[in-house]
Formats: sequence, C-alpha cells, structure tokens
Amino acid sequence: MEFKGKSIISMRDFDKDEIMHILESAEKIDSNREDYAHHMDGKILAALFFEPSTRTRLSFESAMLRLGGKVIGFADPGGTSVKKGESLADAIRMVEAYSDIIVMRSKIEGAARLAGNISSIPVINGGDGANQHPTQTFLDLYTIKKSKESLSGNKVGFMGDLKYGRTVHSLAYALSYFDTKMYFISPKDLSMPDDHLEELDEIGVDFEEVESFDDVKSEIDVLYVTRIQRERFGDELDFEKVKEGYTIDMEFLDGCKDDLKILHPLPRVDELARDVDESPYAVYFQQAANGIPTRMALISLTMGAIE
Ligand code: NCD
Repeated sequence: MEFKGKSIISMRDFDKDEIMHILESAEKIDSNREDYAHHMDGKILAALFFEPSTRTRLSFESAMLRLGGKVIGFADPGGTSVKKGESLADAIRMVEAYSDIIVMRSKIEGAARLAGNISSIPVINGGDGANQHPTQTFLDLYTIKKSKESLSGNKVGFMGDLKYGRTVHSLAYALSYFDTKMYFISPKDLSMPDDHLEELDEIGVDFEEVESFDDVKSEIDVLYVTRIQRERFGDELDFEKVKEGYTIDMEFLDGCKDDLKILHPLPRVDELARDVDESPYAVYFQQAANGIPTRMALISLTMGAIE
C-alpha cells in the first residue's frame, strides 16, 4: 500500500484494505503519540480554508504541530488574493512552493480534486461543498470502531440534512465496505440525493429511507446526526420549513438500544439537546477528539513518514 505523495480527495478513492490500514495507523499513533513527535520536523502544512471551519482546521493544525511540523494558512479567504480574483489553480501553484502538504476546504464541489490534480504535493480535502469530507469519515469510522464491538455489521441511522451533508455522503459510501444496514431518516426535502442512493444500490448496500425515527429506533446501533446545512439553502423559506421536528433529546431516545452510540460531526445547532451529552449514548466529543490521531495518520502516511 503506497500512500506517499497521494492526495486524500474522496472516499471513492479507497478500498477496504486501505481504509483499515489508515485506521490501524491512527490506532498505533493514538496509543503512542510521543513516538511520532518528530515525524514532521522541518515540514510545513498549508491550511487553506475558503469556508468556515473549527474542528477540521484546528485538528489538522494540532495534528501537524504534534508531529513536529509547522503550519501556515488562512481561515478566512477575505484577506487573500482569492478576493482579488486569483484562480484556485494559481493559488495552488504558489502554495505548493511554500509548503509540503495542503489541506483545503472549499464550497465548490470538485475543488479539492482540481487542486490535487494540479499540485505536486499531497492535497487533503477538508470538505468540498456538499460533496465529500473524507477525513471526517476516517475519524467517524475510527469512532465507530472504538465505541462498538466491530466496525462491521452495524445498523446505522443517518438523521438530519442528508441532502447537503457531505459528511453523510462520505460516510455512507465508506460504510458500504463494512456490511452495514443503513437507514436514512429525514424530512422529504432533505433526503439523500438520488445519485448517492443509486450508487449505494449499485454496490449492493441494504438501505431504507424513513421519515420517522420511531419506526427504526429499536434496531439502530449507531445514530449519525447532522445539522441542517443552512448555508447551502438557496431560499431562506425552505430552511425555515424543514428546521422543525428533528430534535433529539432523552425523551426522543426512549426505546432505543441500550448500547446505541450517537455520533455528530459537529457543530450542532438545535438538532441534539444538551441533556444527551451526559448519557452513555453520546460519543460526539470523543469523536471530535479522534480527529487528532486520524489526521496525524493521514499526514504521516501521505508524507511518507510511516508506511
Ligand atoms: C462538518 C462539515 O464541515 O461538513 N463539520 C465538520 O467538519 N466537523 C459538518 C457541518 O458543518 O455540519
């Protein structure tokens, strides 16, 4: 398996063995972080965030610093030449001379793929529009693997904004390798896009679309909740229409399996009540913390510091 020099753009670029190898690398790093403290000495990560981010940017920066590397970049393109109309291609050509690895987030679907094709150094997709968010998926898989008996054979409910939620699109694809029954729970206006469902169907995933959580709550092993992606709605009225009715609190969870685990990529808005935080179901803060070892693994592998 050769990760050195590779870009991380979409879960579609990985097979099951490669995914397992990345998760196992993250586990090794997690259990022995000190051993990796100098793996990126003298290397620079450029974090180019054209869209808002808290966890993805900070955990990538923290991962690079914990590996001994340095970080440059921006969290707000307002202060950059992109504002002056500089193309992404020109920006990448320049940044590859300033750094050894690039992490980028864009609102444009396919932007990371374009950057990866141009760049001579690895590009990691930190989210491209409603399309993909592969590094989130690695930490989601890592969290499921650690909090359930196995990564395989679970019944996973995806709930919330399945239309625009890139984390859902990436994770559903990845879980197709792991014998997962999937339930897509959302209002009709926010259901999984047809092309994603067709793709899952073609690769033989057993899935159902349901509008009510009650119909499936006694079966689900993992519930993956997402916020409504307000920034991707063309019309504010559409947002107002769908925002009610999907709030998870302890009452809502009554009747769930005792060992249910709830994941959320965060940030949350109103869809997940704070009373759930203290319950044994909640693993979302652990999930956010898992961004560090998984991103340390992705940086180390693509930079060739580990194999
Ligand atoms: C997600 C994203 O940016 O897609 N956040 C994250 O990376 N943790 C989810 C979201 O913004 O709702």
